[in-house]
Amino acid sequence: MKIAVLPGDGIGPEIIAQALRVLEVLRKEGMPFEFTEAPLGGQAYDQYGHPYPEFTQKICRDADAVLLGAVGGPQYDNLDRPLRPERGLLGIRKDLGLFANLRPAVLFPELANASTLKPEVVTGLDIMIVRELTGDIYFGQPRGMRVNEDGEREGFNTMVYKESEVRRIAHVAFDIALKRRKNGQKGKLCSVDKANVLETTEFWKEIVIDVAKEYPEVELTHMYVDNAAMQLIRNPKQFNVMVTGNIFGDILSDEASMLTGSIGMLASASLNETKKGLYEPSHGSAPDIAGKNLANPIATILSTAMMLRYTFDNEAAAVRIENAVKKVLAADYRTGDIFEEGMKKVSCSEMGDQIVAAM
Ligand SMILES: NC(=O)c1ccc[n+]([C@@H]2O[C@H](COP(=O)([O-])OP(=O)(O)OC[C@H]3O[C@@H](n4cnc5c(N)ncnc54)[C@H](O)[C@@H]3O)[C@@H](O)[C@H]2O)c1
Repeated sequence: MKIAVLPGDGIGPEIIAQALRVLEVLRKEGMPFEFTEAPLGGQAYDQYGHPYPEFTQKICRDADAVLLGAVGGPQYDNLDRPLRPERGLLGIRKDLGLFANLRPAVLFPELANASTLKPEVVTGLDIMIVRELTGDIYFGQPRGMRVNEDGEREGFNTMVYKESEVRRIAHVAFDIALKRRKNGQKGKLCSVDKANVLETTEFWKEIVIDVAKEYPEVELTHMYVDNAAMQLIRNPKQFNVMVTGNIFGDILSDEASMLTGSIGMLASASLNETKKGLYEPSHGSAPDIAGKNLANPIATILSTAMMLRYTFDNEAAAVRIENAVKKVLAADYRTGDIFEEGMKKVSCSEMGDQIVAAM
């Protein structure tokens, strides 16, 4: 079980340190983790002059999974675009062929007040958004800016999906819907498109319907993206797994994450065809609180649970980490970002202490 550890910038090293303590509990009990640390983002630019240097590429290619903190910071904002920390992220996604982005939006009942929605609308929320990450209008060619036949300037992009791209993301989503079945019920998958207007997504829908034939245990529904954006606010608990293309997924997964009220709680995974995965919190490097031991490490710790579930196929260990987090929240421990009156305020490392103890 080779894990490349990329702490990155800002709060990255602080939250990764806590996640490693949790994995260390499992390692001491016999799980054969091998950790290798490497720089990414600004940290890598400082050391190697590139946000995703060869040194890091080698370690990531050789690993079964990558655990990432976050990248970026104001000190890097004026670098040339190809050298900026965020390019390190794009580089690693491309290099490892990470086409499936999994973003859970889970609201722990103890944190229902952190959401801007009414507690009864969001309590118990548990959605998984599966976003295709390497195709769609973000990568389609041709693209650019030009002067058109009428002599007017215009910008243009191309929305395109190949059948193989839709099939493989549909399989990932159906498999997850299967894994998330409860009490003998069918799995639930909602495919989001704009098939009434865009041929690319009409095609998407057609392929998803075809893949569904292989998954009789999953109930497939379809929704237009504008309605999906509305339904996520109106009645988010109607959803279990959602699957969609790159651009719609970009927007919907951010919307869904805000339902929970705290960005410090949200994990994410990006997988390739061999289930190799990059696991990271959904938030950024939070330069405003970096180096102060204030960050919430839970998103990163929950990312390690996703790693155990999706790359290492160890559901029991994943659930154990998730239950440890639940226990600590139920015991009223809170970092500053999720703190409420009457709770026990803890630092980043103290939150790590509590979760390690609850393991
Ligand atoms: N995947 C990534 O590495 C990633 C993602 C988004 C942004 N970024 C980069 O991060 C830097 C900061 O971006 P931003 O400020 O827009 O977003 P951010 O997510 O870093 O921070 C937004 C706000 O949330 C708070 N926050 C974030 N994570 C937290 C945590 N774990 N605990 C407590 N509070 C937390 C921050 O303090 C800040 O107030 C930028 O350089 C940006 O490019 C990186």
